[in-house]
Formats: sequence, structure tokens, C-alpha cells
Amino acid sequence: MSKQFDVVVIGAGPGGYIAAIRAAQLGFSTACIEGWKNPKGELALGGTCLNVGCIPSKALLQSSEHVEQVEHKFADHGITAAGVKVDLGKMQARKDGIVGKMTKGIEYLFKKNKVTWLKGFGKFVQAGETYTIEVAGAEGKETVTAKHVIVATGSKARHLPGITVDNVNVCDNEGALAFGAVPKKLGVIGAGVIGLELGSVWRRLGAEVTVLEALPNFLGACDDAVSKEAWKVFTKEQGLAIKLGIKIDKVTTKKSGITVDYTDDKGLAQKLECDKLIVSVGRVPNTDGLGSTNVGLKVDGRGFIEVDDHCRTNLPNVYAIGDVVRGPMLAHKAEDEGVAVAEFIAGQKPHIDFNTIPWIIYTSPEVAWVGKTEQQCKAEGIAVRTGQFPFMANGRALGQGESGGFVKIIADAKTDRVLGGHVIHAHASELIQEIVTVMEFKGASEDIARIVHGHPTLSEAVREAALAVDKRTLNL
Ligand code: FAD
Ligand code: NAI
Repeated sequence: MSKQFDVVVIGAGPGGYIAAIRAAQLGFSTACIEGWKNPKGELALGGTCLNVGCIPSKALLQSSEHVEQVEHKFADHGITAAGVKVDLGKMQARKDGIVGKMTKGIEYLFKKNKVTWLKGFGKFVQAGETYTIEVAGAEGKETVTAKHVIVATGSKARHLPGITVDNVNVCDNEGALAFGAVPKKLGVIGAGVIGLELGSVWRRLGAEVTVLEALPNFLGACDDAVSKEAWKVFTKEQGLAIKLGIKIDKVTTKKSGITVDYTDDKGLAQKLECDKLIVSVGRVPNTDGLGSTNVGLKVDGRGFIEVDDHCRTNLPNVYAIGDVVRGPMLAHKAEDEGVAVAEFIAGQKPHIDFNTIPWIIYTSPEVAWVGKTEQQCKAEGIAVRTGQFPFMANGRALGQGESGGFVKIIADAKTDRVLGGHVIHAHASELIQEIVTVMEFKGASEDIARIVHGHPTLSEAVREAALAVDKRTLNL
């Protein structure tokens, strides 16, 4: 007889493992199916985020930023360091150690919350009163039944036709996080989030980096003021060569290196020679092999599972969350959908405001935003007032030697409600959260302006940007 559960979650990335823990907390007998293997061949929980995404990339971003600081920024503080050496093996081992700690941490959380880990890959077999799911693991196949199913199978890197990713020379995120030596010349296809973050890591460690981007504009999702500033810093100050409006024609891999033939924005044929190439052109949902047709689960033409605002699929009691459904491919979005679905199954009335999901690019400076951009408001015919405050006028930022960038707040011209927040600064990831919170509470720029902010803190720049909406900054 197959094992029976109230809730079976397929996939243990940030969406799935959080959904499983919350379902178990709510008293459901819960299992989570996951068959991910790490490079050592061990089964690991945590999905893309913990194994080959958020966590390892942030570890390398931090280590490489230390190198950048000691080589270029400490001198301004009167500190010189001679003979700085980078031990890439140790840096990678540190990153792997963090990943190991985090993924083992989920095993502990599963035990603590009595979530059963079913080791293998899950596939819908049959729908009826309950759903029958086959789990294919190293030890063979078993079937389990579930009253409720949460699909959280995530995404994988999109590859380009004709370009073979071997994850040694031509890499997606997996290989690009694991280089054993710093490439002399690194090519990156795609100036999106991964291209900029991983391009920054390897540039800081000494690679000459060229990023080839198909679109004619840079960071199109950001507020124009931010993308302009980011362009200036990344290209002029840091030396990332970013070519916009290009078309990739051919990638040839030889023993001596990789050649990328491309057409530039003027229509001229160009060649980029590099020793490693990262292909970071977006991600595609994982729905192959899920057995969706066995049960009639609706999947759209691009492979995303179709869901409504409550993450309900077309099948009763089957939900889908995270990267495998519409919306931004972000770990915190996946997690919050996981919590919401578990609570929904328990008869609660959870709600996610998709307008207040923050985006953060962990470059240096970091780029963070929430809500609408000024150009979006204009396009939608919303009259706004905006306020901007530079970190140049913030004492803490000057003390830290991180005085580049600014905060921009966008408020409705009539109601003053905050519609968007945009921060470019070394610590933007932490600063954006205040604006997210205010937006969640439907707050106004005047609210931020009237909240006491500690001094001296970077957060004072957020308050000053709010004051600037009403043209009454105090320190500028
Ligand atoms: P995933 O994390 O992809 O997990 C899905 C899991 O399902 C996987 O473990 C997979 O093995 C498993 N699975 C798939 N099919 C089956 C099956 N049939 N049966 C059982 N299991 C299955 N987001 C951020 O918010 N912040 C960041 O800083 C950030 N950095 C990133 C850096 C990189 C390099 C990358 C690639 C991504 C990054 N992301 C970041 C995005 C983030 O990783 C994803 O949005 C997030 O992991 C999505 O979570 P998920 O649970 O939907 O899917
Ligand atoms: P992306 O969508 O951020 O960027 C892809 C870029 O590649 C785009 O600018 C696109 O125009 C360009 N592109 C597409 N096809 C191309 C082609 N043929 N030639 C040249 N350029 C091309 O995708 P990316 O960087 O792969 O990251 C995937 C996702 O992972 C992100 O969208 C994000 O959801 C998530 N992520 C989040 C991070 C964070 O939150 N800090 C960090 C890294 C990834």
C-alpha cells in the first residue's frame, strides 16, 4: 500500500521547502519530494537558490568585494596592504561550506517539523479522490498519494540554440559559480541579473569581462535614473565592457578558447575571444517529466503551470508556486507563495501583494527597487511627485566610504501614497525593506518623512528622499 499524505510538495527549493514546513506546522501530514544531487553526488535540499543560486552567488560576491575593497578602496581610509593574494580554492571551499550548512539546515528543519523527505523525482500518475504520485529515486520507484499537491519544481537556465553549455568552458549559473581559476577573458551573454552579479565577481577577481546584451537599453526594468547611474558605475568606473543591442551569431569552442561571433548595434560583424563564457539569458520552468498530461494539469506554451492569484491550478487541490508559475523568479516570492498556499489549504485567508515584491541586484553598488518606476507611472498616466536624495550628503555613507548612489521615492501626486522606491547603494538590499514595509501598509511619503530614523544611519537617506517628494529636504 502506498504512503498517504495530506500534502505532498514536489520540489524542495525555497518555495517547496517553506511550503512543506508551513503545511506541517498547520498540522498536515506532509512529504516533500526532492532528488537534487550536489557535485559530490549527495542528495541535497534547497533547490536552485541554496545550491547554485542566491546563496553561493552571494558568498562569492562578498569574498570578491573584499578583494575589491582591499585593492581599491582601503587606500582612501589611509590603509595600504601589500602582497594581497587570492586563494580561489579557499574562496570556493568557503562558498561550498555555506551551501552545505544551509542545505543540511533544511534537513534539520524537516526533521524538526516532521516533514517526510521522499528522495527522488516526482511525477503525477493519476488523479481521483486523491492524487497518485510516483517518486523515482536511486533505490527504485514508489508511489504515494496526496489529498493536496503543491508543485514547486522551479526553473533551470535557458540555453540558446546552437550553443552547447558544458559547464566547464561555456557555462550557465552552475559552472559559472564553480570556476577553478579566474579566467583571463570572460564573455557573458545577457546583461541581466546573473550576468551583472557573476560578471562582477570575476571582474573583481581579475578577469577582463565583456557582456553582450541583445536589448538596446540597459537594466530596462529599473527606474531610468537608477539604470543611468548603474551604467556609469559598472562601465566607466569598474570597467565592465557592456555591449548593448547585439545579436549572437555563433559560438565556437576550441582548445585555445572560445570565439563569439556577434553583430553589434551598428550591424557590424564582431568577434569576442574569451577563455570562459557565461550564458545568462533567463530561466525556463521545470515541467518536463512532471506527468502533467497524466492528470490534465494545464501548462502554458512556455512551460509555466497556469495558476490564479491564489496559486490554484486548473485541478482541484493542486497548487503551483515559485519559478514554475508566472511572476518574478525570486526566492522570496517563491517562499511567500509557499506559506500562502499552505495557509490557504488550511482554510486561512492569506494574501500576497505582488506589487510590493522587492528586486535586488547584489552588485556593488547594489541596485534595489520595489513598485513602479517613474517611466511606468508616466506610461500609465499616473501623476506622481518624486524625491531623490544622494548618499553624498549622508554622514554615515561618507564615514563608510560608500557615498555613491541615491534613494528615489515615487509618490502619487494626489494621495501621496508611495508607489515605488529605488535605491542604488552598497547597502541597497537592506534599505529597500523600509519602503517595502511602508508600501505594504499603503503608507505615504509623508509617513516616511515623519518616522524617526536613527542617526547617523544610511536609512536617513530614505527619509530625506521622502522629504524631497515635498521639496523639504533638510540636509541638501
Ligand atoms: P527552485 O529553487 O528551482 O527549486 C526547485 C526544486 O525542485 C529543485 O531542487 C529541483 O531539483 C526540484 N524538482 C524539479 N522537478 C522535480 C520533480 N519532478 N520532482 C521532485 N523535485 C523536482 N533569487 C532571489 O530572490 N535572490 C537572489 O539573490 C537570487 N540569486 C540567484 C542567483 C542565481 C545564480 C540564480 C540562478 C538564481 C537566483 N535567484 C535569486 C532566483 C532563485 O534561485 C529562484 O527564484 C528560486 O530558487 C525559486 O525557487 P523555487 O522553489 O520555485 O525553485
Ligand atoms: P535575466 O532575465 O535577468 O536577464 C537575461 C538577459 O539576457 C536580459 O537582459 C535579456 O535581454 C538578455 N538576453 C536574452 N536573450 C539574449 C540573447 N540571445 N543574446 C543576448 N542577450 C540576451 O536572466 P538571468 O540573468 O539569466 O537570471 C535569471 C533569473 O534568475 C533572473 O531573472 C532572476 O529572476 C533570477 N536571479 C535573481 C537574482 C537576484 O534576485 N539577485 C540573481 C540572479 C538571478
